[in-house]
Amino acid sequence: MENLRSRIRGTGHALPEKVLTNFDLEKMVDTSDEWITTRTGIRERHVAAENESLSLFAAEAGKQALDMAGMSASELDLIILATVTMDQPIPASSCFVQDILGARKAAAFDIQAGCSGFIYGLAIADQFIRAGGAKRILVIGGEILSKFLDWKDRSTCVLFGDGCGAVALSAEPGGHGLLSTSIHSDGSNADFITLPGGGSRIPVSHEMIDANLHTIKMKGNETFKIAVRSLEATCREAIERAGLTPADVRWFVPHQANTRIISAVAERLGWPPESVYLNIDRIGNTSSGSIPIALDELVRAGKVKEEDVLLFAAFGAGLTWGSALVRW
Ligand code: ACO
Repeated sequence: MENLRSRIRGTGHALPEKVLTNFDLEKMVDTSDEWITTRTGIRERHVAAENESLSLFAAEAGKQALDMAGMSASELDLIILATVTMDQPIPASSCFVQDILGARKAAAFDIQAGCSGFIYGLAIADQFIRAGGAKRILVIGGEILSKFLDWKDRSTCVLFGDGCGAVALSAEPGGHGLLSTSIHSDGSNADFITLPGGGSRIPVSHEMIDANLHTIKMKGNETFKIAVRSLEATCREAIERAGLTPADVRWFVPHQANTRIISAVAERLGWPPESVYLNIDRIGNTSSGSIPIALDELVRAGKVKEEDVLLFAAFGAGLTWGSALVRW
């Protein structure tokens, strides 16, 4: 069988129109622009309107990626949507996306891997492509986290934003495309980032909502410490698997959770600030959306050249973490 790689032929992203600044948040909870910018790097984030749900933005991001790739939705074999904030528990939001796009031939499913969802999605798509199970795949990552936040909890509500990003992959021979991936999980620290209620363990009830178990909780400080170590290790693993060194990486496109985490990882791997792409100041933490949104901005700004090596890396709820190395 021919040796095939997953080549990124198109990228796209979609954000809600409404912007919520740190100054807006100062009026809602006991926080300050100064605290949020120095601790996280975030200045503003987009939030969805009441009538907007995930599939709307996921489909728009997917459509943009298909347009850039010159691919029609009817050619898609697979749609993988990484999210923790689906439209509704049943059915999978990827099926709504399939319908909006008119991708009739495509199988569609959702995956859940916290903020690492997009990396997991890429790793799964790559297996399909290498095994010959699919030739054209849309991988979408994104969230509408604003609808799962406790807007009275300053330790979480200032961190997250809404938005989706997507890549259109095609199976191609040659040395361009996904070079390697690395994914990991640690369920023994599952309690670091949770939304406890609404599942089979604590089903929906008035009591569950009164106890505020329907919103996201995070042990931020504990997560921070593990994130830096794990991100460094997964980046090194993907680079080594491809037979490259950190110096070969032109662009580091990390999950945008915290500038201090990103700088610490970049420093450990010897990457200068100009090779690290940051948009956390404008977008906040969009979980599964952050890497494909950042990638699309980078690509549309004309900053990615053929042969450039890009490294994506993320860490999130699960715990989960992972990275993916791409030659453009
Ligand atoms: N405004 C003002 N003060 C605040 C705020 C706020 N918004 N939030 C917390 N504080 C206070 C705390 O109460 C605490 O006060 P105290 O010292 O009097 O108790 C103080 O600030 C310090 O709090 P820490 O939590 O220790 O602050 P830290 O420097 O760790 O920053 C943060 C918190 C930004 C959450 C950081 O820990 C972080 O980014 N963690 C990693 C997050 C991450 O990567 N998550 C994974 C992805 S998310 C996902 O998967 C869905």
